[in-house]
Amino acid sequence: MYDVFSVPELKFPTGFLWGSATSAYQIEGNPPGPNGYDRCGLGANHWQMYREDVELMAQLGHQAYRFSINWARVEPEEGCYDEAALDHYDDLIDRLLARNIQPWVCLHHNLNPRWFEKAGAFSKRENLRHWERWVKKVVPRIAARIAAWMPFNEFNPHVKIDEGAYKLNCLKAHAWAYHFIRQHSDQPISHAHAFQVWEPRRPYDELDRRMADLADFMVNEFLFHAIRTGELVYPGQDGQFDPLVKGAMDFWGVNYYVRHLADARSASMEGPRYDHKRLRLIDVDNFFLSEFYPEGLLAALERLRDKPCYVSENGLAATDDQWRIVYVALHLWAIHEALQRGIDVRGYMYWSLLDNYEWGSFVPRFGLLEVDYETYRRTPRPSAAFLRDIIRDNALTPQTVKRYLPALPTLGR
Ligand code: BGC
Repeated sequence: MYDVFSVPELKFPTGFLWGSATSAYQIEGNPPGPNGYDRCGLGANHWQMYREDVELMAQLGHQAYRFSINWARVEPEEGCYDEAALDHYDDLIDRLLARNIQPWVCLHHNLNPRWFEKAGAFSKRENLRHWERWVKKVVPRIAARIAAWMPFNEFNPHVKIDEGAYKLNCLKAHAWAYHFIRQHSDQPISHAHAFQVWEPRRPYDELDRRMADLADFMVNEFLFHAIRTGELVYPGQDGQFDPLVKGAMDFWGVNYYVRHLADARSASMEGPRYDHKRLRLIDVDNFFLSEFYPEGLLAALERLRDKPCYVSENGLAATDDQWRIVYVALHLWAIHEALQRGIDVRGYMYWSLLDNYEWGSFVPRFGLLEVDYETYRRTPRPSAAFLRDIIRDNALTPQTVKRYLPALPTLGR
């Protein structure tokens, strides 16, 4: 449906917010001490180089930066806080503000402190007291300077019955944080939701269709329903009503990458993805970002008409940066179409500002800024300039596409 060489003039509404996203653990490098995690090493060395990274964001015209504060770093032992680490985040926030970049903060991006993990993390209701202590510790200190809050990144994915308790506890933890933050800040609060678009692997097959609906319920709809009604419903769990959950998001945060295909005859419920890796978009086998499907983003936004929406993550791990340009252009077109249909989309944050540690590997390259993992030197890719021009114009135009994509990127090497 979307063809990058037919992009029309796409103007975005005044005030549309442009920026990028990262997470602490994926770029900062391991904290010293007991919360050093697997093989991330120095990550992208952002802990040392954050000043330079803020300057680069400013040069690229970014208006917002979504980042996370690493709970594992700040509370390495239960109840013991690293105040110097909090000072560091204070300085990051101040520098963003000094460069007119809105700080969007996430208090939990996938990673738990080890001691919390050992205690069973969010799978146990009684552990929420640790989360509440963390939120109380960090929120009042930064509240006056934060533009938007996302207590959690993506607690919703995984089509797993045995994650019911975890997901419902996360909803409660989110709601608790929502009401606590509200006492300290008037700024909007949401969840960076992994919006997985599920479609039947075989569209003609009744069971695949039902499996797609079930997967969608377990990943997306349980959360939308809970926020809209206060009713917590998940397969394998008794339904509950929690008035604190109802309305505990001011906007929808959408992290969108690609579609998933439901296969009723697969133990994982998921079939193989439409796979373009023969085009060498990326060189990681079975990595999940192997298809461009902007229609999925439009379909996701169509279901979120009851609140403002921000695309809080969208991006491509590509060895050939031209594909990143294609990917961004097509997804911005889908967002523009959503706007035309009357959906209140207010911003776009590219994942990721810079190459980062992709949960087990440094191979996938998502960054607008290329990171040399020997020297940690940052080099803006053409896609960074492409996005900078879009931000400057508050529009995607055929001229911009032509400037950065004079020809179709070649397939293969
Ligand atoms: C996560 C990021 C991750 C990105 C690309 C998102 O689901 O929030 O941590 O790096 O996807 O895989």
